[in-house]
Amino acid sequence: MDLADIGVTGLAVMGRNLARNLARNGYAVAVHNRTASRTDDLVNEFGGEGTFIPAHEVAAFVASLKRPRRAIIMVKAGAGTDAVIEELAEHMEPGDMIVDGGNAHFADTRRREAALRERGIHFVGTGISGGEEGALNGPSIMPGGSVESWEALGPILQDISAKVDGVPCAVHVGPDGAGHFVKMVHNGIEYSDMQLIAESYDLLRQALGATPAELAEVFREWNKGELESYLIEITAQVLDQVDEATGKPFVDVVVDQAEQKGTGRWTVQSALDLGVPVTGIAEAVFARALSGHPEQRAAARSLEGPSLSGVGGRELIEDVRQALLASKIVAYAQGFDQIAAASKEYGWDVDPGAMATIWRGGCIIRARFLNRIRAAYDADPDLATLLAAPEFASVVNAAQDAWRRVVTTAVRIGVPTPGFSSALAYYDGLRRDRLPAALVQGLRDYFGAHTYHRVDREGAFHTDWSGDRKERATGS
Ligand code: 6PG
Repeated sequence: MDLADIGVTGLAVMGRNLARNLARNGYAVAVHNRTASRTDDLVNEFGGEGTFIPAHEVAAFVASLKRPRRAIIMVKAGAGTDAVIEELAEHMEPGDMIVDGGNAHFADTRRREAALRERGIHFVGTGISGGEEGALNGPSIMPGGSVESWEALGPILQDISAKVDGVPCAVHVGPDGAGHFVKMVHNGIEYSDMQLIAESYDLLRQALGATPAELAEVFREWNKGELESYLIEITAQVLDQVDEATGKPFVDVVVDQAEQKGTGRWTVQSALDLGVPVTGIAEAVFARALSGHPEQRAAARSLEGPSLSGVGGRELIEDVRQALLASKIVAYAQGFDQIAAASKEYGWDVDPGAMATIWRGGCIIRARFLNRIRAAYDADPDLATLLAAPEFASVVNAAQDAWRRVVTTAVRIGVPTPGFSSALAYYDGLRRDRLPAALVQGLRDYFGAHTYHRVDREGAFHTDWSGDRKERATGS
């Protein structure tokens, strides 16, 4: 019997499309699904696209793979993943590879990788971005795991990934959970991008009285310049959409409560642990949370806002474009900081320039702007913050007046722009010579003797606030 180069188990739309992508690229693909009819449907419908080797049982699926075996799991992330891993591992032997292509939490991936390593099996937690379309035609792929597993899987993953200027959007991110961590931050940035786009739309609609269709045109224009990206492109399409049943703009018939599967929340939870301010992502997660409390929103409807309208002229459009760009740079700078912090914490040695490179195509946050991030890290791999890289410093410096006008306008007319506002506050915080954190330290020392450091001398100090108010050195 001919053996398969690689296998896919879990044939919902993402798994099915990934299997088809592999087959179309000339790989013989073993396919398996818990409900066997899905496996048969795939082969019946798409069998002509390449070589599929269907299996109805896990044992047969594993047996149909060439050694060392390579099996990709495409099931909904969660407890079920452990069961699928165990079933596969039972039939595998040392040197084989299990790839988890779902959105698993990186801590789960670390745990699973360590457990399988004990048994000699490589576990490769892999971020895959690009939705259904990407899985079929070329996603961005972020695998973690061992170097050996990358050697065996890398060429296949690069073949099926998106390409930008001939460069594949797949690279070995780092050991154990590094791939899923980077995918998680990708999703956090995705949340932030979408929140900033939503604020741009809301502010322009309220301030200018523009229709969704008119705003679709604005986004189409923006997509021709430095904001060019998949999310801006599809924003124009969603805003252009008219509801067939009512003839109203589509955005006006959709319930205004944003849902989430959790990767944005995980990003913020991890950032809190790592001590990295990812305010742009956090505001996006909390804005979704606020939208999801209709009872509170109904109760708050009696609260008053300013009675202003028509406050902006057409120049507001260009101001919002610049605020969007500057706030987006902040969100990316924060996301890359988080990746750097985790890389240090877990010893992953993630190359930030390589991440920018594989996010240029295939994934949801793909954007022209990622070329600049790559260039910034090429020029200085140890950048303290992307914001200070010459390419970005010049953009945010040029945008800051417009950014302030946008936030001011939003505040004046009562349109919430937590993404723009917090990004601007971060920018202002970062560039300050002196922060009021000095006063916070003073207060901490006053009530809790928590000590402080001085600007002019080494060591830690405490002032005897309730006694003689004299300062004493307390050690280092
Ligand atoms: C991707 C997407 C994908 C998914 C998000 C949606 O990169 O292809 O990010 O992973 O669409 O998980 O997340 P929410 O449901 O949390 O918005």
